[in-house]
Amino acid sequence: MDGHLAGISQEDRRLLQGTAQFALAGKRVVVTGASRGIGRALAIGLAACGADVALVGRDRQALAEVQEVIARFSDGRVESYACDLRNVNSIGAMAEAVLADGAVDVLINNAGVNIRESAFDVTPESWQTIIDTDLRGAFFTAQAFGKHMVERRIGSIVNISSVGGHVALRTGVVYAAAKAGLQQMTKVLAMEWGKYQVRVNAVGPWYFRTPLTAKLLDQPEYLADILARTPLGRVGELHELVGPVVFFASDASTYVTGQTLFVDGGMTIFGF
Ligand SMILES: NC(=O)c1ccc[n+]([C@@H]2O[C@H](COP(=O)([O-])OP(=O)(O)OC[C@H]3O[C@@H](n4cnc5c(N)ncnc54)[C@H](OP(=O)(O)O)[C@@H]3O)[C@@H](O)[C@H]2O)c1
Repeated sequence: MDGHLAGISQEDRRLLQGTAQFALAGKRVVVTGASRGIGRALAIGLAACGADVALVGRDRQALAEVQEVIARFSDGRVESYACDLRNVNSIGAMAEAVLADGAVDVLINNAGVNIRESAFDVTPESWQTIIDTDLRGAFFTAQAFGKHMVERRIGSIVNISSVGGHVALRTGVVYAAAKAGLQQMTKVLAMEWGKYQVRVNAVGPWYFRTPLTAKLLDQPEYLADILARTPLGRVGELHELVGPVVFFASDASTYVTGQTLFVDGGMTIFGF
């Protein structure tokens, strides 16, 4: 190979990496909310791209099942860590355990909940549950692994937001506030940690069928409303989130930080 490259500049050689720049082999990725839905899909998809994965969630049994699926096809490492992200001490203990097992290159801040209610029905308890999981939990997880990444002078954090953090949806005001907060948090962390080559980006999905959304998608009228606002005319399939997340997690995006990429079938550009 090197013989063929004689006379090609060092700079041009870097253009010849091809798909290798998307490779995740040798990278260790933490996925929160990996027990089901999008987090499970991302853990499996990233492991299939060669990543070592650390699965985080509350349900140990469900995490063990995901771990078992990954072990069937992957030669990489896969471990599970129980954690309640509403509890900052639990996040600290989880991060300590994950880091005791090895360095972390990528954090996928995916865990999230929603309670769909109109503004007058919001209670301090429902506010607390959503904010503590989707925003506070995501922040303190980013802080714990971000510190480690800053020390190593390398890392990528991917926050799973929602189109609901960008446009007004019927999904509820607290969820919208949490996800908008997550997108703004993405920008500020990207700014603070950029000089250490730690990148922070977000992915904003539209509808994907998971335990969080299945009941809604099973309502024909609601589904029709969704599809009428989606240029691609269908809901997303879980594997369609893997590519965008691989982009942010891998060396394919080393000059991209602070961005939110909507994986939404075109929903957020739809004007009429
Ligand atoms: N599905 C969609 O269409 C859609 C669209 C836009 C954005 N999103 C976002 O994508 C993310 C994943 O959603 P999903 O649809 O996959 O939801 P899901 O099927 O309900 O899964 C949520 C995951 O989060 C974990 N989780 C929830 N609370 C937790 C806590 N306190 N501590 C630790 N883990 C916790 C759950 O694990 P345990 O219960 O085992 O702890 C589970 O693994 C969320 O942030 C959601 O807002 C989803």
